[in-house]
Amino acid sequence: MRRILVTGATGVLGSAVIETLLKKISTQQINVLSRKDEKLAEMHAKGFNTFRGDYDDKYSLEKAMSGVDMVLLISAGDEGDRMQQHKNVVDTAKKVSVNCIAYTSRSLSDRATLANKLMFDHFDTEDYIKESGLKYTIFRNVLYMDVIPLFVGKQVFETGIFQPAGDGKVAFALRKEMGEAMANVILNEKCEKKTYKFTGNETYSFYDIASVLTELSGKEVKYTPVEIAAFDTMMLARGLPPAMVKKIIDFNTDIKNNQEAEISNDLEIKLGHKPTSLKPGLKILFGL
Ligand SMILES: NC(=O)c1ccc[n+]([C@@H]2O[C@H](COP(=O)([O-])OP(=O)(O)OC[C@H]3O[C@@H](n4cnc5c(N)ncnc54)[C@H](OP(=O)(O)O)[C@@H]3O)[C@@H](O)[C@H]2O)c1
Repeated sequence: MRRILVTGATGVLGSAVIETLLKKISTQQINVLSRKDEKLAEMHAKGFNTFRGDYDDKYSLEKAMSGVDMVLLISAGDEGDRMQQHKNVVDTAKKVSVNCIAYTSRSLSDRATLANKLMFDHFDTEDYIKESGLKYTIFRNVLYMDVIPLFVGKQVFETGIFQPAGDGKVAFALRKEMGEAMANVILNEKCEKKTYKFTGNETYSFYDIASVLTELSGKEVKYTPVEIAAFDTMMLARGLPPAMVKKIIDFNTDIKNNQEAEISNDLEIKLGHKPTSLKPGLKILFGL
């Protein structure tokens, strides 16, 4: 690889990818795209080729792809028309004839029964990339272990855990490790229309999370699986916007249905060691 464009380079996952890329390539071989001038200035000072741009702006994408033979498209958030944004990146990559596009998808087991409609974009983007004729690498990342504190809340040691996730399990993995493994693939593997499934080596339910938090903190943390209707009422009473409550419920429904419970050893292989399991992971994430 001569030069790569990393989108999402200012984000947590993109930063982890770049940290590992820099073990083998230089900042001059990395183009970065961001909407934020301040972040771009910081990265420019480190020697990266920086481009102010947006997934919504094809012209900016074309400029950011100048001289690159590979594009890593880190999936957009859900604020805009994410599918159109992804299409813009793929179309531009095709227009400027990059050699390879890599994409951060999600590790979900059954497209047909997904509750969380936001996740459809990942499957649709995968299809769009495959239909584009470009060479590709797809990274299907599992739900970040890093989101557990967001799910259970900062007060978890006082309140316990209330989620409508039943005893569903997730093969959680740390975001940083998935970023590292992605960079290892980008650096060391040929771009051969391959899909990697990055997951932890074990699956965990909220019961397991409660039990580990109890062990680590010395305070009893109890998980109470709640019904969706009760959870909905509880969250709305706390003043959360209905759209946000629906999003949380949809995530939980997919967890309950074990959408993120498939285990693959791709992450262990590409990291070169076992992925961090729940106990050391939560120790880091909660600072315990
Ligand atoms: N597997 C999971 O559990 C999980 C959880 C949450 C999210 N995700 C997905 O993974 C992605 C990366 O995660 P992360 O943790 O690194 O997120 P993050 O820290 O919020 O970073 C998001 C990155 O995407 C860039 N971005 C977003 N919209 C853009 C746009 N319209 N044009 C150009 N750049 C745009 C941002 O760039 P600037 O702000 O600098 O422009 C930023 O660098 C998320 O965007 C989301 O799709 C996965």
